Amino acid sequence: MGPLLMLGAGRMGGALISGWRRAALLSPGDLMIRDPHPGDEARAAIAQGALHDPDPAAMGRAGVVLLAVKPQLWREAAAEVSEALSADAVIVSIAAGVPAGDISTAFGGRAVARIMPTTAAAIGQGAASLYASDPRAAAVAQTLFAAVGVVVELADEDLMHAATAVSGSAPAYLYAFIEALEAAGAAAGLSPQAAQSLVRATITGAAALLAQGGDDPAALRRQVTSPGGTTQAALEVLMGEGGFGPLIDQAVAAAVARSRALGA
Ligand SMILES: NC(=O)c1ccc[n+]([C@@H]2O[C@H](COP(=O)([O-])OP(=O)(O)OC[C@H]3O[C@@H](n4cnc5c(N)ncnc54)[C@H](OP(=O)(O)O)[C@@H]3O)[C@@H](O)[C@H]2O)c1
Repeated sequence: MGPLLMLGAGRMGGALISGWRRAALLSPGDLMIRDPHPGDEARAAIAQGALHDPDPAAMGRAGVVLLAVKPQLWREAAAEVSEALSADAVIVSIAAGVPAGDISTAFGGRAVARIMPTTAAAIGQGAASLYASDPRAAAVAQTLFAAVGVVVELADEDLMHAATAVSGSAPAYLYAFIEALEAAGAAAGLSPQAAQSLVRATITGAAALLAQGGDDPAALRRQVTSPGGTTQAALEVLMGEGGFGPLIDQAVAAAVARSRALGA
């Protein structure tokens, strides 16, 4: 695969550095970082031998270029390095919404894979949607992201918008739910500390049960819902008119629309 040149090493780039180092996929010596203000993980990798702001000759040795700047800045980041890269360097972009064809053009026609990752890649529990029309780029992206979680390859680039809305953006939905449940627990009389401990352990335990496989979420839900019980009373609100179904549909549609706008 060759050394990896990371363009942008903020929150997501840093999570990937952690995950790849944890998976022993990448050592600091295999890493070059271009970022005016690298985050903590990137600074640690630089202290251990990763090249910071490599010169053009070093960039020419990169086998893979990870485009990990904010979507609004991707063209500028590409223009700064494109000429220095070798012709067979593969570009892997995690920039939300930006089409592979535009990225390939900006990088002089090089092969491109698009990935929508999640930050749990830092602990080997990421989810990554992958789209690449070029088989070599797809294989490189598979190697990088299968090392830090689950990879789902999409047949059609347009599906990246939906994948972004239900995966890339979705950890924040879950955190927002947890915040609301903790606040509701406190409003119902629990101390904030008690609400926090109970809610967090409940959510992580329920997610761990789901991760063990076996039952799907609907079956797990039925197992803990007695007819006429407390859970059913709450679910009649959450799953009733104006509940999760329409609300999540609206949220996902808003994220899809934003993803399309970022790429336009
Ligand atoms: N965070 C997530 O959960 C997540 C999930 C999926 C996908 N993504 C994608 O990941 C990308 C990065 O997001 P992020 O949250 O990691 O952003 P971030 O924390 O802002 O990190 C981006 C880094 O890129 C640096 N940068 C700016 N211009 C640059 C340039 N021309 N060349 C090299 N580096 C440059 C920034 O430095 P300055 O701070 O000085 O500007 C910053 O340190 C986005 O495209 C986003 O769509 C993020």
